[in-house]
Amino acid sequence: MQEIFLEYKTFIVFLHVISAVVWVGGMIAMRYAAHYSFLEIESPQKRLERIAHALKRLFAIVLPFVIILIVTAIFMIKGYGLSQSDLSPLSHAKEGIWSVMFINLMVMIFRRNRGERFLNEGNMVGAKNQLELIGKVMVPLNIVLGITAIFLGTYLSSSL
Ligand code: HEM
Repeated sequence: MQEIFLEYKTFIVFLHVISAVVWVGGMIAMRYAAHYSFLEIESPQKRLERIAHALKRLFAIVLPFVIILIVTAIFMIKGYGLSQSDLSPLSHAKEGIWSVMFINLMVMIFRRNRGERFLNEGNMVGAKNQLELIGKVMVPLNIVLGITAIFLGTYLSSSL
């Protein structure tokens, strides 16, 4: 694994960085650009439908990059020998952040799917309950965690 990393280091780090850009940038665009636009839709049913649809597309786009992020991280852990180095606490911190972000994403996908089901059944209150927490808490939490991971990445990059 170390040989592969050394051979393709630039490409592997590039994939790591672009994955973070798509994941974190996608959430910021959704929460702070698209979301405010959706709130202008007057019909509550249509508004929730658009939000559920946009979230479906966002999650489908980011999921492959979430996987690429962890695969490239594993290459870097092995390639740089991070677990045996002084930087291991930072590496573990980033692994922890990725894990929380991943679990949070899985719960968001579950809640979105349930919200869409409620919408199809005409249960507006249930759908709103499922979708509201995603926008108010879960996406902002992942944005903060993602930015923290990027900062730690910058620190790691300048310390390697
Ligand atoms: C899963 C555990 C992770 C590990 C072990 C890890 C490890 C690393 C390492 C070693 C670097 C420096 C690469 C180099 O300069 O050669 C780095 C950079 C970076 N990481 Fe991670 N990372 C992890 C997760 C994440 C997550 C979750 C994000 C964001 C969502 C992220 C975003 C970044 C970014 C943007 C950089 C580039 C920083 C720069 O070059 O200044 N990483 N990461």
